[in-house]
Amino acid sequence: MTISDRKKIKIFDTTLRDGEQSPGATLQPEQKIVLARQLAKLGVDVLEPGFPISSPGDFAAVQQISRDLHGTGVEIVGFARAMKADIDAAVQATRDAELRRLHIFISSSQILLEHQLRKSREQVIQIAREMVAYGKRFVDRIEFSPMDASRTGEEFLFELVEAVIAEGATVINIPDTLGYALPEEYGRLFKRVREQVRGGDTVEYSTHCHNDLGMAVANSLAAVQAGATQVEVTINGVGERAGNCSLEELVMAIETRKQSLGVETSVNIGHIYETSRMMSRHMHFPIAYNKPIVGRNAFQHESGIHQDGMLKNRSTFEIMDPEQMGIPRNMIILGKHSGRHAIKHRVGELGIELTEQQLEELFVRFKETADEQKRVTDEQLIRLVGSTVNRS
Ligand code: KIV
Ligand code: ZN
Repeated sequence: MTISDRKKIKIFDTTLRDGEQSPGATLQPEQKIVLARQLAKLGVDVLEPGFPISSPGDFAAVQQISRDLHGTGVEIVGFARAMKADIDAAVQATRDAELRRLHIFISSSQILLEHQLRKSREQVIQIAREMVAYGKRFVDRIEFSPMDASRTGEEFLFELVEAVIAEGATVINIPDTLGYALPEEYGRLFKRVREQVRGGDTVEYSTHCHNDLGMAVANSLAAVQAGATQVEVTINGVGERAGNCSLEELVMAIETRKQSLGVETSVNIGHIYETSRMMSRHMHFPIAYNKPIVGRNAFQHESGIHQDGMLKNRSTFEIMDPEQMGIPRNMIILGKHSGRHAIKHRVGELGIELTEQQLEELFVRFKETADEQKRVTDEQLIRLVGSTVNRS
Protein backbone atom coordinates (compact mmCIF):
# COMPACT_ATOMS: atom_id res chain seq x y z
CA MET A 1 0.00 0.00 0.00
CA THR A 2 1.45 3.43 -0.91
CA ILE A 3 1.29 6.50 1.30
CA SER A 4 -1.50 8.09 -0.72
CA ASP A 5 -3.75 5.04 -0.26
CA ARG A 6 -3.59 5.27 3.53
CA LYS A 7 -6.42 6.93 5.37
CA LYS A 8 -5.36 9.85 7.58
CA ILE A 9 -6.33 9.47 11.23
CA LYS A 10 -6.64 12.69 13.22
CA ILE A 11 -4.88 12.83 16.56
CA PHE A 12 -6.98 14.68 19.16
CA ASP A 13 -4.82 15.40 22.18
CA THR A 14 -6.61 15.77 25.51
CA THR A 15 -3.59 15.66 27.82
CA LEU A 16 -4.29 19.19 29.05
CA ARG A 17 -7.96 18.37 29.79
CA ASP A 18 -8.63 14.67 30.48
CA GLY A 19 -4.96 13.98 31.21
CA GLU A 20 -4.85 16.77 33.75
CA GLN A 21 -7.76 15.08 35.57
CA SER A 22 -5.23 12.50 36.67
CA PRO A 23 -4.77 12.81 40.46
CA GLY A 24 -1.82 15.07 41.22
CA ALA A 25 -1.15 16.08 37.60
CA THR A 26 -2.52 19.62 37.83
CA LEU A 27 -0.83 22.25 35.67
CA GLN A 28 -0.57 26.02 35.94
CA PRO A 29 -1.89 28.07 32.96
CA GLU A 30 1.69 29.11 32.00
CA GLN A 31 2.71 25.45 31.90
CA LYS A 32 -0.26 24.60 29.69
CA ILE A 33 0.78 27.30 27.23
CA VAL A 34 4.32 25.91 26.94
CA LEU A 35 3.02 22.35 26.63
CA ALA A 36 0.42 23.32 24.00
CA ARG A 37 3.23 24.74 21.82
CA GLN A 38 5.09 21.47 22.20
CA LEU A 39 1.97 19.49 21.22
CA ALA A 40 1.62 21.66 18.10
CA LYS A 41 5.28 20.94 17.28
CA LEU A 42 4.56 17.24 17.76
CA GLY A 43 1.92 17.57 15.06
CA VAL A 44 -1.37 16.82 16.81
CA ASP A 45 -4.39 17.78 14.69
CA VAL A 46 -6.83 18.74 17.44
CA LEU A 47 -6.06 20.04 20.92
CA GLU A 48 -8.33 20.16 23.98
CA PRO A 49 -6.41 22.48 26.33
CA GLY A 50 -8.74 22.48 29.33
CA PHE A 51 -12.25 22.86 30.68
CA PRO A 52 -12.98 26.60 30.47
CA ILE A 53 -15.83 26.73 33.02
CA SER A 54 -13.84 24.78 35.62
CA SER A 55 -11.62 27.67 36.81
CA PRO A 56 -10.48 31.17 35.78
CA GLY A 57 -6.98 29.74 35.26
CA ASP A 58 -8.23 27.09 32.86
CA PHE A 59 -10.33 29.65 31.01
CA ALA A 60 -7.28 31.90 30.62
CA ALA A 61 -5.10 29.00 29.45
CA VAL A 62 -7.60 27.93 26.77
CA GLN A 63 -7.97 31.55 25.67
CA GLN A 64 -4.22 32.14 25.43
CA ILE A 65 -3.59 28.84 23.63
CA SER A 66 -6.35 29.70 21.13
CA ARG A 67 -4.47 32.90 20.29
CA ASP A 68 -1.02 31.41 20.47
CA LEU A 69 -1.45 28.52 18.05
CA HIS A 70 -2.43 30.63 15.06
CA GLY A 71 -0.66 29.45 11.95
CA THR A 72 -0.13 25.91 13.24
CA GLY A 73 -3.29 24.43 11.72
CA VAL A 74 -4.23 22.91 15.11
CA GLU A 75 -7.97 22.94 15.86
CA ILE A 76 -8.71 24.12 19.42
CA VAL A 77 -11.52 22.50 21.39
CA GLY A 78 -13.71 24.14 24.02
CA PHE A 79 -15.00 21.45 26.39
CA ALA A 80 -18.45 21.83 27.94
CA ARG A 81 -21.13 19.92 29.79
CA ALA A 82 -24.53 20.15 28.11
CA MET A 83 -25.26 23.41 29.93
CA LYS A 84 -25.52 26.97 28.66
CA ALA A 85 -22.97 28.40 31.12
CA ASP A 86 -20.38 25.78 30.13
CA ILE A 87 -21.02 26.33 26.44
CA ASP A 88 -20.77 30.12 26.83
CA ALA A 89 -17.41 29.76 28.61
CA ALA A 90 -16.07 27.31 25.99
CA VAL A 91 -17.24 29.53 23.12
CA GLN A 92 -15.69 32.62 24.65
CA ALA A 93 -12.40 30.97 25.59
CA THR A 94 -11.87 29.65 22.02
CA ARG A 95 -13.19 32.74 20.24
CA ASP A 96 -9.78 33.83 18.91
CA ALA A 97 -8.70 30.42 17.65
CA GLU A 98 -7.84 30.03 14.00
CA LEU A 99 -9.86 26.80 13.89
CA ARG A 100 -12.18 25.80 16.67
CA ARG A 101 -14.60 23.18 17.83
CA LEU A 102 -17.10 22.95 20.66
CA HIS A 103 -17.17 19.62 22.53
CA ILE A 104 -20.42 18.95 24.40
CA PHE A 105 -20.92 15.88 26.55
CA ILE A 106 -23.70 14.35 28.62
CA SER A 107 -23.99 11.03 30.44
CA SER A 108 -25.83 8.31 28.57
CA SER A 109 -25.59 4.98 30.44
CA GLN A 110 -28.49 3.96 32.68
CA ILE A 111 -26.27 3.79 35.76
CA LEU A 112 -25.02 7.36 35.26
CA LEU A 113 -28.50 8.63 34.41
CA GLU A 114 -29.91 7.18 37.62
CA HIS A 115 -27.10 7.84 40.09
CA GLN A 116 -25.05 10.74 38.71
CA LEU A 117 -27.18 12.91 36.39
CA ARG A 118 -30.56 11.94 37.89
CA LYS A 119 -32.41 12.50 34.62
CA SER A 120 -34.63 10.31 32.46
CA ARG A 121 -33.66 9.24 28.96
CA GLU A 122 -36.27 11.59 27.48
CA GLN A 123 -34.79 14.49 29.45
CA VAL A 124 -31.26 13.63 28.29
CA ILE A 125 -32.33 13.62 24.65
CA GLN A 126 -34.13 16.92 25.10
CA ILE A 127 -31.14 18.58 26.84
CA ALA A 128 -28.66 17.22 24.28
CA ARG A 129 -30.79 18.49 21.40
CA GLU A 130 -31.20 21.94 22.91
CA MET A 131 -27.56 22.33 23.86
CA VAL A 132 -26.20 21.21 20.48
CA ALA A 133 -28.61 23.62 18.79
CA TYR A 134 -27.48 26.36 21.21
CA GLY A 135 -23.77 25.70 20.58
CA LYS A 136 -24.38 25.63 16.85
CA ARG A 137 -25.39 29.30 17.00
CA PHE A 138 -21.76 30.16 17.74
CA VAL A 139 -19.57 27.36 16.37
CA ASP A 140 -19.90 25.29 13.20
CA ARG A 141 -17.97 22.25 14.30
CA ILE A 142 -19.61 20.48 17.22
CA GLU A 143 -18.35 17.26 18.75
CA PHE A 144 -20.84 15.35 20.88
CA SER A 145 -19.89 12.73 23.48
CA PRO A 146 -22.40 10.43 25.18
CA MET A 147 -20.42 9.75 28.36
CA ASP A 148 -20.11 6.02 29.17
CA ALA A 149 -21.30 5.24 25.63
CA SER A 150 -19.87 1.71 25.66
CA ARG A 151 -22.07 0.79 28.66
CA THR A 152 -25.16 2.45 27.18
CA GLY A 153 -27.90 0.30 25.64
CA GLU A 154 -27.66 0.51 21.85
CA GLU A 155 -31.24 1.56 21.30
CA PHE A 156 -30.95 4.64 23.49
CA LEU A 157 -27.41 5.44 22.29
CA PHE A 158 -28.53 5.42 18.66
CA GLU A 159 -31.57 7.57 19.46
CA LEU A 160 -29.39 10.13 21.26
CA VAL A 161 -26.77 10.23 18.51
CA GLU A 162 -29.47 10.59 15.86
CA ALA A 163 -31.02 13.50 17.77
CA VAL A 164 -27.74 15.46 18.02
CA ILE A 165 -26.81 14.82 14.38
CA ALA A 166 -30.20 16.26 13.43
CA GLU A 167 -29.28 19.39 15.42
CA GLY A 168 -25.96 19.80 13.63
CA ALA A 169 -23.30 17.80 15.54
CA THR A 170 -20.43 17.15 13.12
CA VAL A 171 -18.25 14.74 15.13
CA ILE A 172 -19.64 11.84 17.17
CA ASN A 173 -17.36 10.55 19.89
CA ILE A 174 -18.15 7.15 21.44
CA PRO A 175 -16.24 7.14 24.74
CA ASP A 176 -15.29 3.99 26.57
CA THR A 177 -15.30 6.09 29.72
CA LEU A 178 -14.61 3.28 32.18
CA GLY A 179 -12.24 1.27 29.97
CA TYR A 180 -14.75 -1.59 30.03
CA ALA A 181 -15.07 -2.48 26.35
CA LEU A 182 -13.39 -5.35 24.53
CA PRO A 183 -11.83 -4.54 21.15
CA GLU A 184 -14.19 -6.62 19.07
CA GLU A 185 -17.36 -5.33 20.70
CA TYR A 186 -16.13 -1.73 20.68
CA GLY A 187 -15.30 -1.93 16.95
CA ARG A 188 -18.73 -3.47 16.28
CA LEU A 189 -20.41 -0.61 18.12
CA PHE A 190 -18.82 1.94 15.75
CA LYS A 191 -19.86 -0.05 12.75
CA ARG A 192 -23.43 -0.29 13.98
CA VAL A 193 -23.72 3.41 14.87
CA ARG A 194 -22.48 4.35 11.41
CA GLU A 195 -24.87 1.97 9.71
CA GLN A 196 -27.97 2.24 11.87
CA VAL A 197 -28.25 5.89 12.89
CA ARG A 198 -30.09 8.21 10.52
CA GLY A 199 -27.53 10.72 9.28
CA GLY A 200 -24.78 8.44 10.61
CA ASP A 201 -22.90 8.60 7.34
CA THR A 202 -22.72 12.40 7.36
CA VAL A 203 -20.50 12.86 10.43
CA GLU A 204 -16.94 12.01 11.57
CA TYR A 205 -16.40 9.41 14.32
CA SER A 206 -14.02 9.69 17.21
CA THR A 207 -12.76 7.15 19.73
CA HIS A 208 -11.96 8.01 23.36
CA CYS A 209 -10.69 5.08 25.43
CA HIS A 210 -9.67 4.73 29.04
CA ASN A 211 -7.18 2.12 30.12
CA ASP A 212 -8.75 0.43 33.15
CA LEU A 213 -8.25 -3.04 31.67
CA GLY A 214 -5.13 -2.11 29.69
CA MET A 215 -7.04 -2.12 26.40
CA ALA A 216 -7.19 1.57 25.49
CA VAL A 217 -4.83 1.28 22.52
CA ALA A 218 -6.34 -2.00 21.27
CA ASN A 219 -9.85 -0.57 21.56
CA SER A 220 -8.86 2.64 19.77
CA LEU A 221 -7.37 0.62 16.91
CA ALA A 222 -10.50 -1.53 16.73
CA ALA A 223 -12.56 1.66 16.39
CA VAL A 224 -10.25 2.94 13.66
CA GLN A 225 -10.69 -0.31 11.78
CA ALA A 226 -14.45 0.12 12.11
CA GLY A 227 -14.38 3.61 10.60
CA ALA A 228 -13.36 6.10 13.34
CA THR A 229 -11.17 8.80 11.78
CA GLN A 230 -10.14 10.54 15.00
CA VAL A 231 -8.46 9.10 18.11
CA GLU A 232 -8.44 10.92 21.46
CA VAL A 233 -5.19 10.40 23.32
CA THR A 234 -2.92 11.75 26.03
CA ILE A 235 0.86 11.96 26.32
CA ASN A 236 2.21 9.14 28.50
CA GLY A 237 -1.38 7.83 28.70
CA VAL A 238 -2.12 10.07 31.70
CA GLY A 239 -5.74 10.52 32.72
CA GLU A 240 -8.43 9.55 35.20
CA ARG A 241 -7.65 6.31 37.09
CA ALA A 242 -5.52 4.07 34.83
CA GLY A 243 -5.40 6.81 32.22
CA ASN A 244 -6.34 7.35 28.60
CA CYS A 245 -5.12 5.86 25.33
CA SER A 246 -1.47 6.83 25.12
CA LEU A 247 -0.47 8.99 22.15
CA GLU A 248 2.97 7.48 21.76
CA GLU A 249 1.70 3.90 21.87
CA LEU A 250 -1.17 4.51 19.46
CA VAL A 251 0.92 6.52 17.00
CA MET A 252 3.78 4.01 17.01
CA ALA A 253 1.36 1.08 16.62
CA ILE A 254 -0.02 2.80 13.52
CA GLU A 255 3.48 3.70 12.28
CA THR A 256 4.90 0.21 12.86
CA ARG A 257 1.88 -1.67 11.43
CA LYS A 258 0.74 0.84 8.81
CA GLN A 259 0.84 -1.72 5.99
CA SER A 260 -1.65 -3.93 7.82
CA LEU A 261 -3.80 -1.14 9.23
CA GLY A 262 -3.91 0.99 6.08
CA VAL A 263 -3.91 4.26 8.07
CA GLU A 264 -1.40 6.93 9.05
CA THR A 265 -1.11 10.01 11.27
CA SER A 266 0.66 13.36 10.84
CA VAL A 267 2.57 13.14 14.12
CA ASN A 268 6.25 14.11 13.90
CA ILE A 269 7.49 11.03 15.65
CA GLY A 270 10.95 12.53 16.17
CA HIS A 271 9.42 14.73 18.90
CA ILE A 272 7.71 11.93 20.83
CA TYR A 273 10.41 11.42 23.43
CA GLU A 274 11.04 15.07 24.27
CA THR A 275 7.27 15.69 24.54
CA SER A 276 6.85 12.71 26.85
CA ARG A 277 9.70 13.84 29.14
CA MET A 278 8.47 17.43 29.17
CA MET A 279 4.96 16.36 30.14
CA SER A 280 6.27 14.05 32.83
CA ARG A 281 8.42 16.85 34.32
CA HIS A 282 5.64 19.45 34.30
CA MET A 283 3.04 17.07 35.73
CA HIS A 284 5.48 15.52 38.24
CA PHE A 285 4.22 12.27 36.81
CA PRO A 286 6.88 9.54 36.57
CA ILE A 287 6.94 7.15 33.62
CA ALA A 288 7.01 3.42 34.46
CA TYR A 289 10.30 1.76 33.47
CA ASN A 290 8.48 -0.74 31.29
CA LYS A 291 6.08 1.74 29.64
CA PRO A 292 5.98 0.98 25.89
CA ILE A 293 7.90 3.43 23.68
CA VAL A 294 8.98 5.98 26.32
CA GLY A 295 9.80 3.87 29.41
CA ARG A 296 13.46 3.61 30.43
CA ASN A 297 13.61 -0.10 29.59
CA ALA A 298 11.58 0.05 26.36
CA PHE A 299 14.71 -0.28 24.19
CA GLN A 300 17.21 -1.76 26.58
CA HIS A 301 18.40 -5.32 26.43
CA GLU A 302 19.93 -7.25 29.27
CA SER A 303 19.78 -10.94 28.48
CA GLY A 304 22.85 -12.43 26.84
CA ILE A 305 20.86 -13.95 23.96
CA HIS A 306 19.13 -10.65 23.17
CA GLN A 307 22.37 -8.67 23.50
CA ASP A 308 24.17 -11.04 21.17
CA GLY A 309 21.38 -10.77 18.60
CA MET A 310 21.29 -6.97 18.87
CA LEU A 311 25.02 -6.71 18.30
CA LYS A 312 24.63 -8.68 15.07
CA ASN A 313 21.47 -6.99 13.79
CA ARG A 314 19.16 -4.63 15.69
CA SER A 315 16.02 -6.00 14.04
CA THR A 316 16.54 -9.29 15.90
CA PHE A 317 15.00 -7.89 19.07
CA GLU A 318 13.63 -4.46 18.13
CA ILE A 319 10.54 -3.70 16.06
CA MET A 320 11.12 0.08 16.10
CA ASP A 321 14.18 2.26 15.88
CA PRO A 322 14.23 4.31 19.11
CA GLU A 323 16.30 7.06 17.48
CA GLN A 324 13.34 7.73 15.15
CA MET A 325 11.41 8.92 18.20
CA GLY A 326 14.28 10.97 19.54
CA ILE A 327 15.17 8.35 22.17
CA PRO A 328 18.88 8.29 23.03
CA ARG A 329 20.23 4.85 22.28
CA ASN A 330 21.79 2.91 25.10
CA MET A 331 20.56 -0.48 24.17
CA ILE A 332 22.73 -2.77 26.21
CA ILE A 333 22.48 -2.91 29.95
CA LEU A 334 25.19 -4.88 31.64
CA GLY A 335 23.81 -7.14 34.32
CA LYS A 336 23.92 -10.73 35.47
CA HIS A 337 22.17 -11.94 32.30
CA SER A 338 24.77 -10.39 29.98
CA GLY A 339 27.05 -12.64 27.95
CA ARG A 340 30.70 -12.49 26.83
CA HIS A 341 29.82 -10.80 23.54
CA ALA A 342 28.22 -7.86 25.27
CA ILE A 343 31.14 -7.38 27.69
CA LYS A 344 33.66 -7.58 24.86
CA HIS A 345 31.60 -5.10 22.84
CA ARG A 346 31.27 -2.58 25.68
CA VAL A 347 34.94 -2.82 26.61
CA GLY A 348 35.77 -2.19 22.92
CA GLU A 349 33.41 0.82 22.86
CA LEU A 350 35.29 2.18 25.87
CA GLY A 351 38.51 1.95 23.82
CA ILE A 352 40.05 -0.87 25.89
CA GLU A 353 41.91 -3.76 24.28
CA LEU A 354 42.17 -7.03 26.18
CA THR A 355 43.66 -10.40 25.39
CA GLU A 356 41.31 -13.38 25.24
CA GLN A 357 42.59 -14.52 28.63
CA GLN A 358 42.09 -11.08 30.23
CA LEU A 359 38.62 -11.00 28.80
CA GLU A 360 37.84 -14.39 30.30
CA GLU A 361 39.07 -13.23 33.75
CA LEU A 362 37.13 -10.00 33.42
CA PHE A 363 33.99 -11.97 32.56
CA VAL A 364 34.28 -14.09 35.73
CA ARG A 365 34.74 -10.99 37.93
CA PHE A 366 31.97 -9.16 36.08
CA LYS A 367 29.53 -11.99 36.84
CA GLU A 368 30.47 -11.91 40.54
CA THR A 369 29.79 -8.17 40.68
CA ALA A 370 26.60 -8.43 38.62
CA ASP A 371 25.25 -11.08 40.98
CA GLU A 372 25.52 -8.63 43.88
CA GLN A 373 23.84 -5.70 42.19
CA LYS A 374 21.24 -5.02 39.51
CA ARG A 375 23.47 -3.26 36.96
CA VAL A 376 27.15 -2.83 36.25
CA THR A 377 27.93 0.70 35.13
CA ASP A 378 30.71 1.69 32.72
CA GLU A 379 32.72 3.11 35.65
CA GLN A 380 32.50 -0.17 37.51
CA LEU A 381 33.46 -2.08 34.39
CA ILE A 382 36.52 0.10 33.92
CA ARG A 383 37.50 -0.55 37.55
CA LEU A 384 37.08 -4.29 37.00
CA VAL A 385 39.23 -4.06 33.87
CA GLY A 386 41.90 -2.20 35.89
CA SER A 387 42.05 -4.82 38.60
CA THR A 388 41.95 -7.69 36.09
CA VAL A 389 44.82 -6.25 34.01
CA ASN A 390 46.87 -5.47 37.14
CA ARG A 391 46.52 -9.06 38.36
CA SER A 392 47.59 -10.62 35.02
O1 KIV B 1 -14.09 9.64 29.38
C1 KIV B 1 -15.02 10.37 28.91
O2 KIV B 1 -16.14 9.93 28.71
C2 KIV B 1 -14.66 11.75 28.64
C3 KIV B 1 -15.66 12.49 27.84
C4 KIV B 1 -16.57 13.30 28.57
C5 KIV B 1 -15.28 12.77 26.47
O3 KIV B 1 -13.60 12.22 28.97
ZN1 ZN C 1 -12.15 10.57 29.28
